[in-house]
Amino acid sequence: MSNQPDRIIIFDTTLRDGEQSPGATLNADEKLTIARALSRLGVDVIEAGFPYSSVGDFEAVKSIAETVGTADGPTICALARATENDIKAAGEAIAPAIKGRIHTFIATSDIHLQYKLRKTREQVLETIPKMIGYATTFTEDVEFSAEDATRSDREFLYQVVESAIAAGAKTINLPDTVGYTTPEEFGSLIRGLKANVPNIEEAVISVHGHNDLGLAVANFLSAVQNGARQLECTINGIGERAGNAALEELVMALHVRRQFYNPFFGREPESEAPLTNINTKEIYKTSRLVSNLTGMIIQPNKAVVGGNAFAHESGIHQDGVLKNKQTYEIMDAESIGWTSNQIVLGKHSGRNAFGSRLRDLGYELSETELNKAFVRFKDLADKKKVVTDWDLEAIVNDETQQA
Ligand code: KIV
Ligand code: ZN
Repeated sequence: MSNQPDRIIIFDTTLRDGEQSPGATLNADEKLTIARALSRLGVDVIEAGFPYSSVGDFEAVKSIAETVGTADGPTICALARATENDIKAAGEAIAPAIKGRIHTFIATSDIHLQYKLRKTREQVLETIPKMIGYATTFTEDVEFSAEDATRSDREFLYQVVESAIAAGAKTINLPDTVGYTTPEEFGSLIRGLKANVPNIEEAVISVHGHNDLGLAVANFLSAVQNGARQLECTINGIGERAGNAALEELVMALHVRRQFYNPFFGREPESEAPLTNINTKEIYKTSRLVSNLTGMIIQPNKAVVGGNAFAHESGIHQDGVLKNKQTYEIMDAESIGWTSNQIVLGKHSGRNAFGSRLRDLGYELSETELNKAFVRFKDLADKKKVVTDWDLEAIVNDETQQA
């Protein structure tokens, strides 16, 4: 029986792996605000947190499950190590969601087994079916990850995956935990699973990867060519160490180059049917929101959402773009919802224009916060002819830090 979707499932882990970026801690309200934005963006699955790790995270996952996990909303997922306590906490936290998923994991590489888990391969093979079976008592939607899959012995990994699927895992995730693999190697790992795991078609193959060598997005695209159908990613690529694969880069690569990717989904190259459910026009706003709430600044030359991503400095480029944008642009800023500031904000601007620009930049302020920020804006506008988006962000960030 084949369980393969005919498009890519976007699994967003900004609120779990993304929040593991040093210094990026979010409170429950901030997590909920981001979860709502992710739902508007159209992600299929939100990994909302790791409930057993703290009471705060348990409550945050539960409140996202209650509020965002509606019938037409995304699946709400919680992370759990392959232990009963973790799985129980995850199961209870996602319970209010209409569609809830438990994502349980255990390491499979010898280096993790020997030094971290101090377990043998046999012990890992015993744990997996027990814990997946336990997870299925909370939800039918169980995902299993073989942590450090890309540094695991292939034959052992095949055994692990087969037993996880037999125990009820509907999604098999292959994490490149330390960002070590390369595109060709990741592709060959998936080909290997397809050739050697007899029940592989019963599960969706997912990939998860870190950016230690700057290869996460390239690795994922190779995985897609070889049959991966779920991509685990974060907004702005935030996450442990050098971060995770960036959602906006993956989605726009699949969108801009769809003629190349369509045939891997059995489609005609010219097909216009989207390869993901993402509403690309929400990308810029969501990116700004995540940057503002986590405090993780986006480098100007960051692909897709960096301040310079659509800027042209040299005279030759400017001349080309003025004649025809496609000379130096492969996508429209508008396609990611980056509206150029049509209304110039200055001392004559009103509160509505000010509020609307802030919403475009991803800020959702309360009435009181908006009023306070507006007073500071007027003050600045008296001293400066034009108030830029960067000035607005400085005003709002100052306001929220003082609150
Ligand atoms: O990088 C990793 O291996 C993870 C797993 C928990 C999926 O984040
Ligand atoms: Zn990770």
